[in-house]
Amino acid sequence: MPDMDSVKQSKDYYLDIPQNMAAFFLKGSGSLGWGMENRLARIFNPTSGRTVMLAIDHGYFQGPTTGLERIDQTILPIVKYADSLMLTRGILRSLIPSYQNTPTVLRATGGISMMSAELSNEQLAMDIEEAIRLNASAVAIQVYIGAKYESQTIINMTRMVDQAMRYGIPVLGVTAVGKDMARDARYFRLATRILAELGAQIVKTYYVDEEFDTVCSACPVPIVMAGGKKLPELDALTMAYKAVQEGACGVDMGRNIFQSEKPAAMIQAVRSVVHNNEKPENALDLYRDLK
Ligand code: R5P
Repeated sequence: MPDMDSVKQSKDYYLDIPQNMAAFFLKGSGSLGWGMENRLARIFNPTSGRTVMLAIDHGYFQGPTTGLERIDQTILPIVKYADSLMLTRGILRSLIPSYQNTPTVLRATGGISMMSAELSNEQLAMDIEEAIRLNASAVAIQVYIGAKYESQTIINMTRMVDQAMRYGIPVLGVTAVGKDMARDARYFRLATRILAELGAQIVKTYYVDEEFDTVCSACPVPIVMAGGKKLPELDALTMAYKAVQEGACGVDMGRNIFQSEKPAAMIQAVRSVVHNNEKPENALDLYRDLK
């Protein structure tokens, strides 16, 4: 039954207050459309503008990586501390409860193993309909700038960007480094910028001690820092601290969290650095308190 009474009695049109048109909070992300921005806002905390993404996708080419042998035992208890979870569709379907609410970033490339002579020979290993079926908040594509299959991996990414744009799904471009390649700011400026120019809405890269701020500055979309090999906790927290202070919009860390002696304490310490700008020494104290 239409409620004519309440329609007749209009209350207040707030004629003196302009409609709020707040700009989207992530760098380079203000013209992407509502669905994609909404997915990005699930991954990145709108208050801090940053994310703690927990990367557990290593098995896609390494098999049961140390710390990930039993994801149900080691990772499920700490998922609640992550802003987003980066993983493969196989682990998502087989081990992550569908009622959990942490946004997911699904790895969508593969085709090699750690036994392969040429790691860069990756292909697209998932299509966008699968990402939609699994309610992914983003998909991740690995790109090997300067490696033998550079072009193939770049085209993997641009194909996925084209597919994902149709449905408002962000693509995380992952800068992968071949075995012999130098990891310096010059390389990462080149790699991150190429990924952003070719359509990635988020770019993941490694930290470098020199000029990491220039890598972030030259990349027009948010950068998240990969953790790399396991370091002592203070070193990992220092690296995360420097990365966000120098312009990264968060971290996409794996081994430095799940290979820590106390992963739950470590991810909370990383959160304090990323979201609260906590100094590494204070974050280490938090880690020790929570251990
Ligand atoms: C490598 O297999 C994946 O891309 C990881 O997601 C990435 O390396 C981040 O994990 P970690 O912090 O362990 O380097």
